[in-house]
Amino acid sequence: MKILGIESSCDETAAAIVENGERILSNVVHSQIDIHKVYGGVVPEVAARSHIEVVNPVINQALSEAGLSWSDIDAIAVTYAPGLIGSLLVGTLAARTLAVIKQKPLCAVHHIEAHIYANFLDTNDPTWRSPEFPILALVVSGGHTQLMLLHDHGDYELLGQTRDDAVGEAFDKVAKIIGLPYPGGPSIAQAALKGDSLAYKLPIPKVDGYDFSFSGLKTALLRSVQANVGVRFDFPSTQLASKLNDQQRNDFAASFQSVAVEALVEKTKKAFGEYQPKSVVIAGGVAANKVLRQKLAEALPIKIQYPPTYLCTDNAAMVASLGYFYARQKNFFNPLELEIFPSLSITKAIWQKDV
Ligand code: KG4
Ligand code: ZN
Repeated sequence: MKILGIESSCDETAAAIVENGERILSNVVHSQIDIHKVYGGVVPEVAARSHIEVVNPVINQALSEAGLSWSDIDAIAVTYAPGLIGSLLVGTLAARTLAVIKQKPLCAVHHIEAHIYANFLDTNDPTWRSPEFPILALVVSGGHTQLMLLHDHGDYELLGQTRDDAVGEAFDKVAKIIGLPYPGGPSIAQAALKGDSLAYKLPIPKVDGYDFSFSGLKTALLRSVQANVGVRFDFPSTQLASKLNDQQRNDFAASFQSVAVEALVEKTKKAFGEYQPKSVVIAGGVAANKVLRQKLAEALPIKIQYPPTYLCTDNAAMVASLGYFYARQKNFFNPLELEIFPSLSITKAIWQKDV
């Protein structure tokens, strides 16, 4: 079964074709990073406008790169939640229209659930294997930080989540404070390579159960930067970066990354001990972080799984993979009625059926 996936929930316009949930036949991602870089973050209206401009060419490119025509496509899968309103609207409208015109069944998938399914994609890596249920999933993206237990396709338990900032959001905000370019995650990871993670002592967030918190860590970093450059706590964070030298910047990046990763690893290790899953996967943009991968691998007795970097950040192959498992169960939506849900939680979204 060949599924065309469409993703436009934030600042990537993407289309991909995946066979049987595993085999990537094409994977096209049009990133808006360069457009938003000048603003230091995603500007929703600008994002929506860019999606409109490229969504059709991106879909056509996915078909042509796979060497397929519409008659080869069995179903369309699109991200309908969560994300930016304008961005979600463009992708879902394109998918709904194509589903009607080309007479294809339509699967509507949750973006966070799709991130987890990036781990089901075969990337020609000889060490790759499909995750086995029960799966413990650490979801770490720009908008979400969650620990989930997946008993089977569509049968999930949310063990915990962030009570404030997502970890990716914290990477992005800290990068801004210390003067590293957007997106902050990769910039901090790179700067940290040249920094000392013990240079500045930052507190590990303490939260009950399997929940996380990152806003206190971000504030602690801000206070530490202010103290180290010799200004008061009310000195504007936007003017701090120019007061840091490169070594301080790299040391702050390394110190922050180390504590953020430790918080993620600590909770994942605890959940592994309690639930004894068969597989542990990391998903979402922050899963690209090499220190996180390495520390988690060291902390757990089984091999952890994570997608290659280009499948950690937003893409449509993960949407098409998840779409296959929906389609297999004929879990389709009526294209004339599909709505978007900008802030829908994964536990409310999964495997609902309205036709
Ligand atoms: O999953 P994603 O592409 O978009 C959302 O669904 O949010 O995640 C984007 C997030 C951003 O916050 C970005 O800074 C972070 O992933 N990120 C990283 C790395 N690469 C991307 N964070 C830490 N280390 C990285 N190497
Ligand atoms: Zn994402």
